[in-house]
Amino acid sequence: MISVPKKPIWALTPLRYIGGKSKVANKFFQYFPTDFDEYREPFLGGGSVFLFMKQVYPEKKFWVNDFNKNLFDFWMILQSNAEDLQKELLKIKVLYSARSVEERKQLNIEMKEVLYGKENRSTFEKAIAYYICNKTSFSGLEVGKFSNPAFERNFTINNINKFSIYSNLLQGVEITNLDYSVLFENTERSFLYLDPPYELVNTANVLYGENGNLHKDFDHIRFSEELKKIKGKFCLSYNSDDFIKERYKKYRQIEIDFKYLANCGNDGKAQNKKELLIMNY
Ligand SMILES: C[S@@+](CC[C@H](N)C(=O)[O-])C[C@H]1O[C@@H](n2cnc3c(N)ncnc32)[C@H](O)[C@@H]1O
Repeated sequence: MISVPKKPIWALTPLRYIGGKSKVANKFFQYFPTDFDEYREPFLGGGSVFLFMKQVYPEKKFWVNDFNKNLFDFWMILQSNAEDLQKELLKIKVLYSARSVEERKQLNIEMKEVLYGKENRSTFEKAIAYYICNKTSFSGLEVGKFSNPAFERNFTINNINKFSIYSNLLQGVEITNLDYSVLFENTERSFLYLDPPYELVNTANVLYGENGNLHKDFDHIRFSEELKKIKGKFCLSYNSDDFIKERYKKYRQIEIDFKYLANCGNDGKAQNKKELLIMNY
């Protein structure tokens, strides 16, 4: 086990992300190995663990991935064109700060139309729309309902002005929009941190993708089979339920207690939660 670096970690995540690990990345870090050449994160989401690792290991190779195309577009534009993204979002922010709640709500609806409507939109327009939906919806999900307190609290000039920090961290990083299993190939010298959707008993809580499809359609048994292909090291974080412990009983397991922001929305209710870390080393 290694200790958490003393040096401050500056950048947590540019996004609000349900199931995001920004508050626990440093807790997980002590269970991560150090002897690897390449870091891979197949379920990137808000990217908080990746960003933590990139700041600790700026010289290593990084490959991050998420199957959510809208989220992927946002990360790609943040990497390749953060300056224009920042300028455009600041313009919209200033404009809508002077507008009514109803007009702000309309903006949120228009941005959802950019993401999910029939009209063909550029990747840049989609990145703008994804960010606005992420910051102005009740839950932080791009499909979530508009919330004016979320607009006030999260869609801020301060947050937008941090894009250059994230963009610098993204330089040289491979970002893909593939099924996770592609990242399980050729992993001899890689370390993979895996954060798949939780396996929910109550399917009303599906979170990821349009209509929750990236959550409810996730095949957890296939995932446990694919995992066997990994030749390098992996650390998998999951909901700490008995059926998960049983499925992965041949691997080392550690249960971590943490306060977890169950809702990234307005009430920010914290719950006592346990997370299971499963490691093949
Ligand atoms: C629990 S979240 C990851 C959260 C991330 N660790 C963070 O700190 O923000 C799971 C992610 O897996 C993605 N996902 C779901 N199915 C996938 C698949 N088949 N391949 C790759 N990513 C997938 C979802 O879009 C979602 O972003």
